[in-house]
Amino acid sequence: MSSKFSKIGFVLAVAGSAVGLGNAWKFPTMVGQNGGIGFILLYLILTLIVGLVIFLAELSIGKLSEKDPVNAYKLLAPKHKTSWSIAGFTMIGAILIVSFYSVVIGWIVKYTLLSFSDLPNNIQDSKALFANFMSNDFTSQFFCFLFVFFLMFFIVSKGIKNGIERLNVWLMPILFILLFFMLIYSMSFDGFKAAYHFLIFPKLSLIEELGFLEAIFGKIDENSILSALGLAFFSLSLGVGTIITYSASLPDKTNFIQASLIIIFINVLIGIMMGFVVFTYIFEFNAEVSQGPGLIFVSLTTLFSNLGIVGNILALAFFVSLFFAGITSAVSMIEPFTLYLVNTFKYSRKKALFLISIVVFILGNLCILSSMNFSAQSLTFFGKNFFDLLDYISSNIIMPIGGFCAAIFVGYIINKDGVKILFSPYMNNFFFCLWYFFLRYVSPLAIIIIVINQIYPQLFQYIKFYALKIFLFFT
Ligand code: PHE
Repeated sequence: MSSKFSKIGFVLAVAGSAVGLGNAWKFPTMVGQNGGIGFILLYLILTLIVGLVIFLAELSIGKLSEKDPVNAYKLLAPKHKTSWSIAGFTMIGAILIVSFYSVVIGWIVKYTLLSFSDLPNNIQDSKALFANFMSNDFTSQFFCFLFVFFLMFFIVSKGIKNGIERLNVWLMPILFILLFFMLIYSMSFDGFKAAYHFLIFPKLSLIEELGFLEAIFGKIDENSILSALGLAFFSLSLGVGTIITYSASLPDKTNFIQASLIIIFINVLIGIMMGFVVFTYIFEFNAEVSQGPGLIFVSLTTLFSNLGIVGNILALAFFVSLFFAGITSAVSMIEPFTLYLVNTFKYSRKKALFLISIVVFILGNLCILSSMNFSAQSLTFFGKNFFDLLDYISSNIIMPIGGFCAAIFVGYIINKDGVKILFSPYMNNFFFCLWYFFLRYVSPLAIIIIVINQIYPQLFQYIKFYALKIFLFFT
């Protein structure tokens, strides 16, 4: 990267990358599918013990090397440089993500345009509209995607990280203010109380009936744990080289610990606010909590339409803000690989982007086709359509692997003193040791257990069985 961010530019760039559709679209969807409060708690715990810890590890790799992910690992590894550089290729995950992510931004474009017309005023119509768009309307989806595609690559080709971040300075607060007002407005509905019980604290009657733990964690299963980990990674942009790449341009003497905490706080807060707004109307209109990816498009349009013309204005503002939040994240997914191609093969930025764009174009179109009635069947693999498969592989497999490599690399491979010197102005010794302990023992183990549990549930049962036996033997 040619120039460094300003301090505020760094915070905004990373916040812009972190706050995106993960918070506005994935978070409420997954919370709905996994039963609410228990899932949020899991997500918060994993955000702290895995997300924050690995975020700081990736930041160290970026800052200490000032390179793209592959060259960063290569430069910092004391030996086996080439083997370690493979860890940097987890940035391919970002290319997979941007392929389906830009399709979703395309949906947002469609709904931005819809805000100018009559929005469906009940959940059924709203659902039908979305379903039709998803499974029959290839042309609309294609052109919306195409628009996002060109815009995204145009922006990255300009290298205007600062341009888009400056835009973020305006748009992120607008998103926040809008969400805040929607939250206040939603408090006047009965659905808000139900949303509160769903997201924050279960009904007392439910606790009496089921017991405290069951009322909170009753709907959690192994899949939910992996999903919560995937979401923690996804919403913090971890494991695919973004944080490494942005931190390569972290200006010196920036309190990056404080910056990281602010970014993580904003990220969680926006997710939860979004959850409140969405679920208030879900409960208010008796819609299905676990309806999946259409959740925000279906429920929010109904809400907006019930607000009359003000609703149209709000819808427009809301989807436009979401659009920019999405674009800022999308840009941060393309940057790592671009920088790698430029650094390693001395390609011009344009040439690098051209090559990446071919891949994204093909994958993006396959994502769209995989939800169309006429092509869905041939694009379904292992019971998931292509879109969900890309999402699953990148969020639940590549991101955890990328994060795991970063944790091992910083925790075991590179010299501790170098990292300590980097952290010492902003973190006292106690917290540094705590972080380092988590980095070495807790986060990687959590990742291994969760991922293995998903891939080989049987194996996990054996481990649990023998661990218990050993434990009982000693007690
Ligand atoms: N954090 C972004 C979001 O929540 C997604 C993202 C993933 C961005 C990976 C960059 C890299 O929408």
